[in-house]
Amino acid sequence: MNASAFPADLVRDVARRRTFAIISHPDAGKTTLTEKLLLFGGAIQMAGTVKARKSSRHATSDWMEVEKQRGISVTSSVMQFDYLGHTVNLLDTPGHEDFSEDTYRVLTAVDAAVMVIDAAKGVEAQTIKLLEVCRLRATPIITFVNKLDREVREPVALLEEIEAVLNIDCAPITWPIGMGKAFRGVFHLLHDRLLRFTPGEERRSADSEVIAGLANPQLDRLFPDEVGALRRDVELIRGASTPFDLDLFLAGEQSPVFFGSGINNFGVQEILQALVEWAPPPQPRDGGSRVVRPAEGSFSGFVFKIQANMDLKHRDRIAFFRVCSGRYQPGMKVHHARIGRGMKLGNVHTFMANERVKSEDAVAGDIIGIHNHGQLQIGDTLTEGEALGFKGIPYFAPELFRLARPRDPFKAKQLQKGLRELGEEGAIQVFDSGSGNALLLGAVGSLQFEIVVQRLQSEYKVDAVYDTTNIFAARWLTFPDEAARRGFEKENAPNLARDVDDNPVYLAPNKYNLQLTMERWPKVGFHTTREHGQRLAHGLPSEASAAFETGRRSVEQGPVYGMRP
Ligand code: G4P
Repeated sequence: MNASAFPADLVRDVARRRTFAIISHPDAGKTTLTEKLLLFGGAIQMAGTVKARKSSRHATSDWMEVEKQRGISVTSSVMQFDYLGHTVNLLDTPGHEDFSEDTYRVLTAVDAAVMVIDAAKGVEAQTIKLLEVCRLRATPIITFVNKLDREVREPVALLEEIEAVLNIDCAPITWPIGMGKAFRGVFHLLHDRLLRFTPGEERRSADSEVIAGLANPQLDRLFPDEVGALRRDVELIRGASTPFDLDLFLAGEQSPVFFGSGINNFGVQEILQALVEWAPPPQPRDGGSRVVRPAEGSFSGFVFKIQANMDLKHRDRIAFFRVCSGRYQPGMKVHHARIGRGMKLGNVHTFMANERVKSEDAVAGDIIGIHNHGQLQIGDTLTEGEALGFKGIPYFAPELFRLARPRDPFKAKQLQKGLRELGEEGAIQVFDSGSGNALLLGAVGSLQFEIVVQRLQSEYKVDAVYDTTNIFAARWLTFPDEAARRGFEKENAPNLARDVDDNPVYLAPNKYNLQLTMERWPKVGFHTTREHGQRLAHGLPSEASAAFETGRRSVEQGPVYGMRP
């Protein structure tokens, strides 16, 4: 399609969109930053709104029983707000106990991410995992080093750690002056000015706090004891650090780094500014048969998350749908590519910062919630008729495993049916490991197991119990040829299983076993992700499995496929 064929209003509206998520380890300050971003974005009027929701989400939510019991959210909600002429979509990545495969999947629906690092703790486990998922699509990352109002680690050491552990170049944009009680603010290396930190200030007024120029005598007056070190540090870091390069940032290879203190509203505005100025608008996506451009007039997109049990009586579900091209219009008819049938989009919501409203208009980059009764699964594509199938919404290799069996052996069929349907929906991954009546379940977060037990009980009337297993990791397999497949299966029979789509999976009891097996079978592909609905024909090369790379990375990383544009 040539560019002039793109509707002008759509080109304009898409260019205004910024869709991102915040990634962090629990307690680094994601909730606080979310709240402050919404506050500065004018989406909420009062601090405490998001925080209150974090601690008592059950009060406003009508979702699942388990959520009510635990008072936590099992949903990844979406918050939309306008900022400086842009429409910003902030997608929540469930952390803490509600960390699940959904957390990973949310990252397939964003165009950028803000990574929050606790400056006292540095790079933590969950951040490493989430960043790895971002890398699958080379998502641009903005880094916020938080909690400078505390005694924290040296900024240079923090940057070195981020670069070494996360394997991403850091380009500091602001540089902290002091820390803890002696935190004086940050020096903006690009704007050549100091942003002064005043603890406890609710809403920073740009005028009163900005001191332009490193040589400004105001600095000598304000910080007579520290000004020498301040100038020396800034000169040093200017000379020694990597300069910011927009192209490298957009390629996911370099991260601009901001220092601040979320709780004190300090450094938050700079993050918002970076999002609207530097983060990309919606990008073209691999639609299977062709690349889909966001400003194309024809509507398309994919489901990246299913929220079940909004209303138990009706068994309805909300499909979180990322619009990839065109414009949603109320009541429009769409084509459901997987089942090859038409579907009317009647009951569709947009998620504002504080509420769900009926969606009137949504364009590429926006997330809409489509009510349905089970027709939609994760990874499904909707179009205005074209047979597309968006790529890059994978299953992620589970990290936790349980064997599920019915308490009443006569209920084995119901259990199988329930697990099959919940597996299709994406609530849990189900494997057949040939262990009698028990089915092997895999999850990324332990809450997924709890939800499944609850849902099996309420929706399928079957009481399931879990047994532990000694599985450390699962990897999808691809083989170079039939002989390799037979040889591998013969030697590793006790460690093999099949997923719901009959794809072969290797189950490793520990890290060393996985490493060793990969070394023994260098031509066999061990994969940490698999596209939804993809059948690999016994893991042998075919058109369907061509998307698998056979490239080998470390045990933790595994190869990546179909994700990078
Ligand atoms: P999370 O969503 O990533 O889990 O983190 P959250 O924002 O809930 O923050 C975790 C804790 O860190 C909270 O303290 C929060 O107040 C604190 N925090 C966030 N940003 C900053 C900061 O810039 N400086 C300092 N000193 N602390 C910060 P809490 O004690 O767990 O909760 P609360 O009692 O303060 O609400």
